[in-house]
Amino acid sequence: MHLFLLVALLFNSIVLFGQSNVPQAILAENGLSLNFPAGFHKGVAISAFQNGGERYGLSNWGFFEETFIHANAKTMFGPAIKGGQKVGVAADFWNRAFDDIQLLKELGCNAFRFSVEWAEIEPEQGVFNEEVLAFYEQFCKELIRNDIIPMVTLHHFTHPQWFEDLGGWTNAENNLLFVNFAIRVFDRLSEYVPFWCTINEPTVVAACGYVLGIHPPGKCLDFKTSGTVLYNLLNAHVQTYHALKARKNGANVQIGIVHQMLQAEPFDPNYSSLYFVGKMRELMGMPLANFLNSSFAHDVTKEFLRSGSFEYHMPLVGVHISEYNANAVDSYDFVGLNFYSKVIFGPGPTCYNHQYMTDMDYPARSETIYDAIVEMSELGKPIYVTENGVADKADIRRAGFIVDYLAAVRRAVFDGYDVRGYYYWTFMDNFEWNDGYDMKFGLYYVDYKTQKRTLRNGALPFKYLFTVG
Ligand code: BGC
Repeated sequence: MHLFLLVALLFNSIVLFGQSNVPQAILAENGLSLNFPAGFHKGVAISAFQNGGERYGLSNWGFFEETFIHANAKTMFGPAIKGGQKVGVAADFWNRAFDDIQLLKELGCNAFRFSVEWAEIEPEQGVFNEEVLAFYEQFCKELIRNDIIPMVTLHHFTHPQWFEDLGGWTNAENNLLFVNFAIRVFDRLSEYVPFWCTINEPTVVAACGYVLGIHPPGKCLDFKTSGTVLYNLLNAHVQTYHALKARKNGANVQIGIVHQMLQAEPFDPNYSSLYFVGKMRELMGMPLANFLNSSFAHDVTKEFLRSGSFEYHMPLVGVHISEYNANAVDSYDFVGLNFYSKVIFGPGPTCYNHQYMTDMDYPARSETIYDAIVEMSELGKPIYVTENGVADKADIRRAGFIVDYLAAVRRAVFDGYDVRGYYYWTFMDNFEWNDGYDMKFGLYYVDYKTQKRTLRNGALPFKYLFTVG
C-alpha cells in the first residue's frame, strides 16, 4: 500500500481517537519511520520579516507596501501585493520568538533556520541597533541551550530602504555595504552560530523585483537590470563568504548560499495535446518564458557557482552580460537548496491527473526534489534542503506532501548523495510576500487575533516520521 495511504489511515485514527501522541515505535512497526543518518538536520525555516514585520527600521518591503500598491496599474502581472495586504506584526516574532522555542522542541527539531533583519539592525546607514543585536545573541544562546542548531540567513529578500535608495543591488559598489553589515552580525553571533546562509534565492530577487514586478522595487520586464542584480547578488555572496571566513570563528563555521531551483517544463505530449499549447506559450512568451520556463536563471547561477563565469544572454531583447569571478568557485561550504516543485506549463500552471496542485499553483511532485538534489550534487558540496513545504489552507495535502518529499530526500541520502539536512517551510503561518496572508504554509496554524499557535494534523508526519539514527 502506498506510504501516504498508510499514513493517512494512521493519522485519521489519531484524530478519531483523539490521541495526540503516537509513539515512534508504532510508526516504526508500520514501516513508517524514515531514518536519516546521525547529525542530520531536522529543522524548520522562517524569515524574520515574514514572521515579525518591522519595528525600528524601514525596509524595502515596508516602503513597497506603502508606495507601490497604488501603482498596480503598472504591474503587468496583476496586483503587486494581493488586496494591498501589509505585513503588520505577522506572527509576532519579535515578542514570541523565545517562547516559540518550546514549539520547535515539540516538533522534535534539532535545527532552526531564521534570518537577521538588516533594516532592524542597521536602520540608518552606519548606525547599528544594539538592542536588536542583543536580541539575536540571546536568541541564539537560548536555541543552543535547547539543543537546537541555529542557521542564520543574512539576507532574506528584505534590506533597509536607505540601501535601496542608494541603488540597492543594481549598483555593484553597494555590495560592500552588505558585507559590512554581515561582518557586524557575524562578529556578534559566530560564537553561537555554526551555519550561515549569505543570500536567500538571488534568482527570485532578480525575477520578482525586475521581471515580474511583484517584489520591490516592482519593475517589470527589465531583463537587463534583472541580470545585473543577479550578478551583483551572487558576487555579494562571494565577497561576504571570503570576508566572513577571514574573521574570528570563520574557519569553524559553514557558510553557504541558498538557491531556489526555479524550473519548469511544458506539459508532456504523451499526456495531452495541451503540450502544444504550452509550447506555444513558451515560444510566444519569450524572453519571459526563457527566463522562467527554461530554467535560465538557474542554469546561469549554477554555472557561476561551478566555474565563476556568469553568462547571461537574452538575444531577443539584446541583453548580454558576460562576467567572471575566480573567487566564486571556492565561495561556499554547502549549498542551501530551496525546492518546492518543478512547474508544468499547459495553458497555465497545471499538473497531470495523478498529481494535485498546491494552493500556490504549483503541483506536488516529490520525485523532482530527488532530481534537484542529484543536479545540485554536481557542485560537489554538501547540500542542506533549506526550504521545502506546501501551502495548504484546508490541511488535506500537508501530511501526504511531507511524507512523499521526505521519502524522496531520504532516498537521495541512501543513494549516496551528500544531503545533510531538511528544513520545512515553514514553522508557522506567516506573511507570504505578494500573496499576503492568503497562503498557509505553517506546521502551526496561527490565529492572528490572539497569536495562538495550533499544530496542524497535517504536520504530524514531520513530527513523527523523522527519526535520527
Ligand atoms: C522564500 C520564502 C517563501 C517561500 C514560499 C521561498 O521562495 O524563500 O520566503 O515564503 O518560498 O513561497
